Amino acid sequence: MKRIGLLTSGGDCQALNAAMRGVVKGLSENVDQLEVYGFLNGYKGLIYGNYRLLSSADFSGILTKGGTILGSSRQPFKLMRTPDENGLDKVEAMKQNYYKLNLDCLVILGGNGTQKTANLLREEGLNVIHLPKTIDNDIYGTDVTFGFQSAINIACDAIDCIHTTAASHNRVFIVEVMGHKVGWLTLYAGMASGADIILLPEIPYDIDKVIEAINKRTKAGKGFTILAVAEGAISKEDAALSKKEYKKKIAERKFPSVSYEIADEIQKKTGTEVRVTVPGHTQRGGSPSPYDRLLCTRLGAEGAKAIVEEDYGNMIALINGKIKRVPLEDVAGKLKMVDPDSQIVQDAKYVGISFGD
Ligand code: F6P
Repeated sequence: MKRIGLLTSGGDCQALNAAMRGVVKGLSENVDQLEVYGFLNGYKGLIYGNYRLLSSADFSGILTKGGTILGSSRQPFKLMRTPDENGLDKVEAMKQNYYKLNLDCLVILGGNGTQKTANLLREEGLNVIHLPKTIDNDIYGTDVTFGFQSAINIACDAIDCIHTTAASHNRVFIVEVMGHKVGWLTLYAGMASGADIILLPEIPYDIDKVIEAINKRTKAGKGFTILAVAEGAISKEDAALSKKEYKKKIAERKFPSVSYEIADEIQKKTGTEVRVTVPGHTQRGGSPSPYDRLLCTRLGAEGAKAIVEEDYGNMIALINGKIKRVPLEDVAGKLKMVDPDSQIVQDAKYVGISFGD
């Protein structure tokens, strides 16, 4: 008999359902009796005791379904130790609900913040397993997170569509890609869709170099230029500011995001018309790609195996093509960023993509 709790926390992404299905199917096949409790809307459900007893029917037909059948919410890690507005100790409340249901393990699907709270619960003595989700691909200790490949497809489609209209109108276009503080999604989608300039948080840009790259294309007879800009892209001057100064600058910025600021600078300095497209949350939506369905079925299977073996406290990761268990204490709180000297960035530069550096 196994009793497990499931929760999905933080910004959603494709394949959350596929991953939960993998775990539940794996367990259903390999344990005599199974009880699955789904906590609603992330850690909120665990804190306030909002859950549903799920049946195998809940996991049927969800391999291809986007979003999460459990709902999700953001519960910042840094506030987990702060009592709620009614003075409730959130960590104690989560422990109480876990013990009340007599759970063998909590399976927690989420990104970096979610992982930190999962590790906190592990330190508090709960059995946890973490499955790494996020379109940002910034979780340390796994080669890839689920959601990332599906989001690449969507960001890529957006840039592909911009390509044809940019060519018709001889314009400069910026497509702003999600990714929070890292540039994985922009780098992969940008390269896969033939963006001419890719701006990432990890490689601060110089606006004059960006303009140089546009002018180079114009001189070569190309009428249009596509920039894939990460939402966290940063100029060299801004990167030199202290964290506090940069925060202040962002708070006072008259543009909705960095892409509009870059567009304004290009327009002012060159007189060229620039358009900005922000696919935004579409990048997290819709059906998971076949790659993510496969990845999540494998992560789910390994998660189930770990529960059968009572091996807890790990993230289930993909490392060099193999699914592995990685101790949460080794990875929680670390961010995986694009290495500016990595082969992929060098390859991009070799084929003429400018990073504005
Ligand atoms: O972490 C996933 C992500 O989609 C980031 O790429 C983005 O910065 C953020 O979430 C958006 O968060 P929200 O959905 O809270 O606006």
